[in-house]
Amino acid sequence: MTTYGSFPGTRPRRLRTTPAMRRMVAETRLHPADFILPAFVREGVGEPVPIAAMPGVVQHTRDSLKKAALDAVEAGISGIMLFGVPEESKKDAAGTCGTDPEGILQVALRDVRAEVGDELLVMSDLCLDEFTDHGHCGVLDAEGRVDNDATLERYAEMAQVQADAGAHVVGTSGMMDGQVGVVRDALDQIGREDVSILAYAVKYASAFYGPFREAVGSSLQGDRSTYQQDAANIGESMRELALDLQEGADMVMVKPAGPYLDILSRVSDAVDVPVAAYQISGEYAMIEAAAEKGWIDRERAILESLLGIKRAGARNILTYWAVEVARTLR
Ligand code: PBG
Repeated sequence: MTTYGSFPGTRPRRLRTTPAMRRMVAETRLHPADFILPAFVREGVGEPVPIAAMPGVVQHTRDSLKKAALDAVEAGISGIMLFGVPEESKKDAAGTCGTDPEGILQVALRDVRAEVGDELLVMSDLCLDEFTDHGHCGVLDAEGRVDNDATLERYAEMAQVQADAGAHVVGTSGMMDGQVGVVRDALDQIGREDVSILAYAVKYASAFYGPFREAVGSSLQGDRSTYQQDAANIGESMRELALDLQEGADMVMVKPAGPYLDILSRVSDAVDVPVAAYQISGEYAMIEAAAEKGWIDRERAILESLLGIKRAGARNILTYWAVEVARTLR
């Protein structure tokens, strides 16, 4: 590193003089291909249903989801990550509709895949919380605790059903030990070596998931602290990461993004697989809410939040602003 202190001719501000200069010397750039759009599809609704805590985001109907997927193709983003919201009456303790080929997520995967083919990566959330009547990410044992290994059996089946329905990528988001290995085996067993795994390797138990709970009509009482990570920890993330890679993760994700940029930076330094970050519902809601009150400049705040995530080391970013931002970058 050169020290410039005794060399008065050097003035860093010269490289900030005009927009053209700042653009040329920018070290980080956002590109449409950086982005993946998380999208919700709700069973049994005739019109898209707005999500109050996420202004601008809806629970899609099957038709409006297809349209959103085409918009994503047109905007040039990389993928769409689907979440299914079943009818309340279809939820049960095992999350059966998460593995039913006619369940809302599977139906939506087929719809979207038929619409976009290979133009857009079709991804599915591989987790049970949207489908269980207790709202946990797995099945429960007799004492009401989340049963890790019984849940893995459900995930194996879920992976196969999602692959059959057309997922290019499955996102293992349940934070059960061993889930990546089990899902890899299950996919390989049915000859789907082509389906890749985006492992939510590092996923913290976060208050910022709040608006998502409304988005998926979650039935959860209590919290997920026995399976999602503690915000205080770093070493734990590195262990989770190593395990997921050993088990066959093709890509890894850090989630949430904004409050965990230090973790994201460490993860991206540590691995050579693609690293994604999920800018979650609460991160979205905070900026939208402050902008609505006129307290911050919405567009600048969105771009700054995304640039920060990319600068910290994310190759890809899951964000509810994916399509909107990609359009401004073209
Ligand atoms: C689990 C899942 C969650 C999110 C994505 N996948 C909820 C959770 O773990 O409680 C949250 C995404 C967001 O808040 O935007 N299926």
